[in-house]
Amino acid sequence: MMNEIKYDVFISFKNTDKDNQPTLDSEIAQKIYKELEQRNIQAFFSNIRLFQFGEAAYKQAIEEALDQSKILIAIATSLDYLNSKWVSYERESFHEDILSSRKENAYIIPYIKNIDINALPRSLRGYETFSIDNNSIEEVVNFVIACLKKSNEYKEKKFEKSLTTGKRASTYDPSSKKELRRLKIQADNTRQADTPAIEYCLTNLPKKDKIYILDAGCAYGFVTKDRFSNIANSQVIAADISKKCLEYAKEHNDAENIVYEYLDLESETLESDIEEIMDKYGIDKFDIIFSSLVIHHLKNPNRFLRKIRKYLSKDGFIILRGSDDGSMVSTGDNGLIEKVIQMHLQADGISDRFNGRKLYGQLIASGYKNVKMMSCIKETSSLDIDEKEDIFLERFEYRKTYLQNALEKDPYNMDKKNALDAMCYALDMLENIFSEESFWYSEIDFVAVGKRV
Ligand SMILES: C[S@@+](CC[C@H](N)C(=O)[O-])C[C@H]1O[C@@H](n2cnc3c(N)ncnc32)[C@H](O)[C@@H]1O
Repeated sequence: MMNEIKYDVFISFKNTDKDNQPTLDSEIAQKIYKELEQRNIQAFFSNIRLFQFGEAAYKQAIEEALDQSKILIAIATSLDYLNSKWVSYERESFHEDILSSRKENAYIIPYIKNIDINALPRSLRGYETFSIDNNSIEEVVNFVIACLKKSNEYKEKKFEKSLTTGKRASTYDPSSKKELRRLKIQADNTRQADTPAIEYCLTNLPKKDKIYILDAGCAYGFVTKDRFSNIANSQVIAADISKKCLEYAKEHNDAENIVYEYLDLESETLESDIEEIMDKYGIDKFDIIFSSLVIHHLKNPNRFLRKIRKYLSKDGFIILRGSDDGSMVSTGDNGLIEKVIQMHLQADGISDRFNGRKLYGQLIASGYKNVKMMSCIKETSSLDIDEKEDIFLERFEYRKTYLQNALEKDPYNMDKKNALDAMCYALDMLENIFSEESFWYSEIDFVAVGKRV
């Protein structure tokens, strides 16, 4: 099932020409789509991105939309395009439904150019035809509205759009409810990666009365509390730029040895801001600086690493954890994970998806010594169905957010809508696959440990 939207109008057109370039028909379709959407009419157009999941996926999406729609707009700038495989299929199926009375008060609206009326296929002859040269898109849409009114399908009021397509979803926000849950799950799923690295540092630190720890980019404090609240004689400063996250952390992930503080790791005043916090708690140097899944969000990770280095004690350690989409290996998904990764990579505003492999070099380049990789393999063979679902949520489900945000910024862009729908389709399939016995998934949580000197 593609999504839960009910379509009023099906826009039928030839997507690409013989050189695989977008046709003029697709440009016109885009304009009609925009005008319909702006007037609160739900329009469907075929999504060629679905072809990557096979012809069956593409056909299923078309058939669901054909079943729902009351109107089919047949756009064509040549007879060849009008008679091309999928354009014919869409129009003829719709016409069949009208003839057999499966559809009542349904209409086909030909919107054409360079085609002799007498050469029109039989299925189009009985309908009022609009000329691309002489009739504006507005006129066509006005006619659509008149037809919908006849069948009582047009409602003036604005209606909520389905979240499945992301139209009204909020932009990515680390303090969103969904992200909160994902980070909580992720904190559990990555414990086995952090624990040996933290133990290694504690074992190798010289004896001290008190151990000072900085968690840079702590979000809600799930990782902070889980990893550090039980370390004897320690004082943990957990810092983040998100005030909402910090509020939650103070309320829900409080511990005797942990304080949460606001800090922008990219600020030009980073040094004085950190020093102010250190003064407040009487800290001279940190013994451990920990940062998980944060530095790839920064514009210049090495700059941050260089600047923070001077706040480590002489014997102190830095621990960085990252992830890397290139470390994913799976069987039983028929290449679907790879497709999801590729689609995600094309989204606007994503962070570095291959940050895990860079941690070693980043620490070396930023002046740290004795850098060790203590990475950990996460894999599903011994997990139960709930744990597998958690891995899906942690590592995949959120990837549609970036496409939702892109569409939210440009809501009438068919290409962005296609990209999001294809991602939702792929994620729906992947979620099911994650619970199958034959499916196996593995990836690396990259952990790098370095010393100041
Ligand atoms: C993916 S979360 C990881 C949170 C936590 N370390 C964990 O492993 O669950 C990234 C965090 O980095 C924080 N962050 C991003 N840019 C930041 C900056 N410039 N200064 C401080 N925190 C930042 C975000 O607010 C977010 O809480």
